[in-house]
Amino acid sequence: MQIKSKNKTILITGGCGFIGSHLSLLLKKKNFRVIVIDNLSIGKKLLFKGDRFYKADISKKNQLEKVFKENNIFAIFHLAGLSKLTESFKKKKSYKINNIKGTQNIIEIAKKYKIRYLIFSSSASVYGKQKKFPISENSPLKPISYYGKTKLISENLIKKNFSKGYFKSICLRYFNVVGSNYKNKLGEVHNPPIHLIPIFIKKIIEKKPIEIRSNFKTKDKSGVRDYIDVNDMALAHYLCLKKINKIRKNFLILNLGSKKYFSVKEIVKTICKKIKSKKIKILYSKKLRGEPDKLIANGQLANKILGWKPKISIERSILNMILWEKYKLKNKKKFVN
Ligand SMILES: NC(=O)c1ccc[n+]([C@@H]2O[C@H](COP(=O)([O-])OP(=O)(O)OC[C@H]3O[C@@H](n4cnc5c(N)ncnc54)[C@H](O)[C@@H]3O)[C@@H](O)[C@H]2O)c1
Repeated sequence: MQIKSKNKTILITGGCGFIGSHLSLLLKKKNFRVIVIDNLSIGKKLLFKGDRFYKADISKKNQLEKVFKENNIFAIFHLAGLSKLTESFKKKKSYKINNIKGTQNIIEIAKKYKIRYLIFSSSASVYGKQKKFPISENSPLKPISYYGKTKLISENLIKKNFSKGYFKSICLRYFNVVGSNYKNKLGEVHNPPIHLIPIFIKKIIEKKPIEIRSNFKTKDKSGVRDYIDVNDMALAHYLCLKKINKIRKNFLILNLGSKKYFSVKEIVKTICKKIKSKKIKILYSKKLRGEPDKLIANGQLANKILGWKPKISIERSILNMILWEKYKLKNKKKFVN
């Protein structure tokens, strides 16, 4: 039986962040009641699109207890966490608390309140450097960043504690998430931006030089990535929820990628074309610790199980990101919590 939205309350941790806010909006449109937990360390209250907001920290169990006592939660999307590759090496303790302890707390409290379904935001960073492409769910797991390690440890905690009997869980390994829902004033709010495309867009709009790391083992020497639009991603999450009951396995891992990959230099060209910027200054530098040369997803399993295929093109995603960035630059004051 497929899950229906009537009277169902869904909890989204990290629901004031980039992906969580898009997911909140979609689940609301599908008539779910949406509860959001966010400590606003990164996310913004402005992006809250649910029914009820709790400023709470997933690493603090007493704060979670209140949310679970006050709401009859049907399923959890666990997105909250820290996700900067380089920072994760320098702030291991913080990543351990937010990503690992936070996930452990969510598992424990979900079990205590007998919440049956848990869908977790993992990352392609669990794969690290691979030799064979595209990367499937069975490819070897060798994270090269501490961030990637925290995601792998979290997946294992879920597998160990949330995969038997009554409990069902899905870990979604995201590749690079792009785009915005500009019409509904949703997009990425990291300040300063942490992902490559938002960094480039901001700099190119501001007519500042951009930096391309160019010692990757790829054709044009810049990193190659698989990009997926945040709106396509939200839809995949919704389909997980809708179909989780029909999936025979109690624990499942799915790659969410598009298999359409681009080099960073190709992405820069597209951005310049969309912004109509002819002259940009490019500084070349070396890749950072923890950055693989290529990340290309094999998303066949998600296609098969969810009946889902990403539809939004990279050009459309980039255009929406440019509109979002321009909106943010014009409305700087709005983005203070
Ligand atoms: N964006 C991507 O390309 C990408 C790729 C792979 C995996 N992911 C994962 O997806 C999830 C969502 O990513 P995003 O891009 O929306 O990130 P984001 O930073 O925009 O959102 C994360 C949200 O979690 C909140 N948060 C952080 N620590 C918290 C804590 N201890 N308690 C409560 N709230 C906390 C932040 O305030 C933020 O609003 C993250 O777990 C991230 O690791 C993202």
